[in-house]
Amino acid sequence: MAVLSAKNALDAAVEAARWAPSTHNTQPWTFSVSREEISLRADTDRKLRIGDAAGRELLISCGAALFNMRTAMRCEGFEPEVRTLPDPDRPSLLATLRPGTEVQPDESIRALGGEIERRRTHRAGFADVPVPDRLIERLVHAATEEGAKLTPVRSPEAVRIIAALTQAAQGVQAQDQRFSLEVIRWGRPPGSSRKDGVPAEGYPRQAARTDPDFPQRDYTWQHDWGSQADQRAATSVGVVALLTTPGDSRQEWIDAGQALQHVLLHAAAYGVSAAFHTQALEIGLLREFLRGELCSGEYPQMIMRLGVTFDDKDSVRRPLSEVMD
Ligand SMILES: Cc1cc2nc3c(=O)[nH]c(=O)nc-3n(C[C@H](O)[C@H](O)[C@H](O)COP(=O)(O)O)c2cc1C
Repeated sequence: MAVLSAKNALDAAVEAARWAPSTHNTQPWTFSVSREEISLRADTDRKLRIGDAAGRELLISCGAALFNMRTAMRCEGFEPEVRTLPDPDRPSLLATLRPGTEVQPDESIRALGGEIERRRTHRAGFADVPVPDRLIERLVHAATEEGAKLTPVRSPEAVRIIAALTQAAQGVQAQDQRFSLEVIRWGRPPGSSRKDGVPAEGYPRQAARTDPDFPQRDYTWQHDWGSQADQRAATSVGVVALLTTPGDSRQEWIDAGQALQHVLLHAAAYGVSAAFHTQALEIGLLREFLRGELCSGEYPQMIMRLGVTFDDKDSVRRPLSEVMD
């Protein structure tokens, strides 16, 4: 019986990993299972060579997948035993995970597990509904538990500066043909059968501008794509938050990914979604400015807005057969 449930835990963990967020939905991971252990590997063929040359966003994405695996394993009644970057000679092997001692999943872990497939990235303004301070405090705590720091940006001036940096980064990237082509490569036209990239149903055709304006990535290359959901009333920026780590090592990128997903699942369990604006972190000068001026010297890993939205979005994932080694 225990052997059977350990197998269920392994299956559930790999299934959950697929639903992690990843930059442009590249899903840059593969998994293998042997002797009751899952190996999570980076699929560097899926790295963004222009936007993410160092592989930072790739490792954040894989860290988010690792958090999903840990959560699913707990929901199945096992405390996961995790080793990150276990072999310096195999840098693509990011983590191994096996079911450890049996535990009774509590309500809070079940709540996180219930959001793994439901959570979606938002790409517009939020409804004019406040995010409770108590929830933000809990999200800050969730990030700390994973070795990262989530800082809500409360000063309107700092929010305007981050919006302006996002606009600058978006402008610089739009003028860089190699960069634009890489983003467009991952944007999908309506009705596409591809199971990776950002589907046209994943963003609104006409999102109202927030004030200050946080521009979205242009996945459409000026096509009239996007979902028809009525977004005109949703103009709130929400709560802007920065996710940072003390250093900028590969281990810290994985930690940032785990923290990100812990924050996102907890927020989703309370009806709060996230929009991401990581453009400025892909330009060294702007990232350095943010680090020195707004992150107290810590390394910014994600820029997000948190808020309430009532529209449905869609996303896609590759089938298990494509991500298993
Ligand atoms: C490291 C990282 C950076 C991201 N940056 C952005 C971004 O700048 N703009 C955006 O719209 N989404 C961004 N995303 C969200 C992904 O596009 C999203 O997770 C993916 O398309 C899958 O969709 P889903 O989250 O709705 O399942 C980012 C995700 C990760 C993990």
